[in-house]
Amino acid sequence: MGKFCKCNGRLLCLCLLPCMMTGHLLIYITVSIFVTISYSPPKVTFHYIAPGISANSSTLASHPLGPFWNLRLEDSALWNQLQHAWDRQYNPLLRRNTTGVMRKPKAKILSEIEDECLSDCMSHKCSVPRIHDLNSLPEQIRAFIRSMHCREYPLLINQPGMCRRNNSSFDLETPMLLMAIKSQVGNFENRQAIRETWGRSGLVKGEANKKGGLVKTVFLLGRQDSSTGPHPDLKNLLDLENQKYGDILLWDFRDSFFNLTLKDLLFWNWFQKYCPTAIFVFKGDDDVFVRTDALLDYLHKQWEEHILWRAYTNETELNLFVGDVINNAMPNREPSTKYYIPERFYKGVYPPYAGGGGVVYSGSLLLRLLKMSEKVRLFPIDDVYLGMCLNRLGLSPSHHTGFLTFDLPEVDRGKPCAYKSVLLVHRRGPKEMLALWKQLENLPSQC
Ligand SMILES: *[C@@H]1O[C@H](CO)[C@@H](O)[C@H](O)[C@H]1NC(C)=O
Ligand SMILES: *[C@@H]1O[C@H](CO)[C@@H](O)[C@H](O)[C@H]1NC(C)=O
Ligand SMILES: *[C@@H]1O[C@H](CO)[C@@H](O)[C@H](O)[C@H]1NC(C)=O
Ligand SMILES: *[C@@H]1O[C@H](CO)[C@@H](O)[C@H](O)[C@H]1NC(C)=O
Ligand SMILES: *[C@@H]1O[C@H](CO)[C@@H](O)[C@H](O)[C@H]1NC(C)=O
Ligand SMILES: *[C@@H]1O[C@H](CO)[C@@H](O)[C@H](O)[C@H]1NC(C)=O
Repeated sequence: MGKFCKCNGRLLCLCLLPCMMTGHLLIYITVSIFVTISYSPPKVTFHYIAPGISANSSTLASHPLGPFWNLRLEDSALWNQLQHAWDRQYNPLLRRNTTGVMRKPKAKILSEIEDECLSDCMSHKCSVPRIHDLNSLPEQIRAFIRSMHCREYPLLINQPGMCRRNNSSFDLETPMLLMAIKSQVGNFENRQAIRETWGRSGLVKGEANKKGGLVKTVFLLGRQDSSTGPHPDLKNLLDLENQKYGDILLWDFRDSFFNLTLKDLLFWNWFQKYCPTAIFVFKGDDDVFVRTDALLDYLHKQWEEHILWRAYTNETELNLFVGDVINNAMPNREPSTKYYIPERFYKGVYPPYAGGGGVVYSGSLLLRLLKMSEKVRLFPIDDVYLGMCLNRLGLSPSHHTGFLTFDLPEVDRGKPCAYKSVLLVHRRGPKEMLALWKQLENLPSQC
C-alpha cells in the first residue's frame, strides 16, 4: 500500500509540475506587462536654458541670439575668408537644401566679399575680391587674385576623339593610363622627346613583358603670348604640330605658374567630357622621366588588389592617389621665391599633398576631385590645391618611394641599375630623356 502510494505521488508530481511552471510564467508575464504599461518617466528639471529669442511656444526650442562660433574674420587672410564663406554656404547644418550645386547665396554672408562671379567670369562684370593694399603684393599673386573667381576658358585646340574607338561618337575606349603632361607652347623639343620615349601613345608593354595596357598621351597648354612681354608667335608651328600628332589641348588662358591649378581644373572638365573611362591618370611636367612600363606593372597590381577588395566590401570605386607626399608643409614666406604665398593671402599649414613633377590617380577619383573642386577656392599652387580637395574628400595621398622629385643622388644618375625601383625622376631634359630611354631598355635583364 505504502509502495503504491509513493508511486502515485511521484506520478502526481510529474503531472502537476508543468502546470505549475506554466502558471508561474503567466503570472510573470502579466506582472511585467502591467509594470511596463504603468511606467512613467521621472520628471527632468531643467537647470539651464540657452539664451535666445523664445518663439513663445512650448514645442519649439529657443532661437539663438548670436552665432555659436567666432565669425570675426576681418583680420584673417583673403583665401581663408573666401573659403569660409563657401564652407558656410555648403554646410548642410546651416543650409538644409544642398542638392543644388553652385547656388548663389540668398544673402551675402560676409558683406565685404564679392562673390557673384562664378557664372559670368568672362563678361568682366565682376568685381575682384577686395583686399586692402592689394598693390603692395607681388604682381603674380595680384594677377591671381584678380582672376581667381574664373574657372571657365574656351578650348582652342581640342582632341574630341582621343578616347573614341574608330572615331565613333559612342564607342569609348578604356585606356589603362591617360598621361596628361603640362607643357608650354614653346617646349616643342620636350614634347617630341616624350612622344619618342616614355609618353608613347598606344599599347605599351609592362616591364618584363607583363600585361601592359593602352596608353594615351595629351599635352596641356595655355596661351603663351605677348601679354607677359615680347614673345615670338608660335601659333602656326603649334598648329602644324597638332596636325601631325593630334595630342595638344590648348586653352585660352595665360600659361603662368600661378595658373597651373586652373590647368588642372580645365583638364578634369575635359576628362569628364571626353575620356571618362580611363582607369588611371598620370599628371606631370614635361621635364620628368617616367618608367612607363614599371608604372603600368604597379598600376596593374593596384587594380587587381582593388578587384579582390571589391569582392569583400561594397567599394566599387578605386581611390588611388600616389606620388611623393609632403606632410605638414608651411607656405613659403620668402618674397623672392616662385612659391611665395603672402600671409595676407593664406594662413595655416598645407594639407598633405603630393608634390613635384608627377602624380598618378584613378580616373574615378579624378571625377570625385572635380566635383569637390566646386567647393574649394582656387589656390595658386596646383599640388597644394589637389591636397586640399583630397583632404575634403577625407582622403590622403599615398607616398611611393619610386617618385623621385628631387632626383637620384648625383653619383647614381649614370647607373642604369639605380633606376630599378624608380617610377618617376625629376628632372630630365629632352636629350637626357632619349639617352636614358636607351640605357633603360633592357633593365630587368641587366640588373
Ligand atoms: C513673446 O512674448 C513676449 C511677451 O510675453 C512678447 O514681448 C514677444 O514679442 C513674443 N515673441 C514672439 C516671437 O512672439
Ligand atoms: C532643393 O533645391 C532644389 C533646386 O535647387 C529644388 O528643386 C528642391 O525642391 C529643393 N528641395 C527642398 C526640400 O527644398
Ligand atoms: C575599328 O578599327 C580597328 C582597326 O583599327 C578594326 O579592327 C575594327 O574592326 C574597327 N571596329 C569597328 C567597329 O569598325
Ligand atoms: C574624327 O571625327 C571628327 C569629327 O567627328 C573629324 O573632324 C576627324 O577628322 C575624324 N578623324 C579621323 C581620323 O577620321
Ligand atoms: C591666368 O589667366 C587669366 C586668363 O588669361 C589671366 O587673366 C590671369 O592674369 C592669369 N593669372 C596669372 C597669375 O597669371
Ligand atoms: C552593397 O550595396 C548595395 C546597394 O548599394 C546593398 O543593397 C548591399 O546590401 C550592400 N552589400 C554589402 C555587403 O554591404
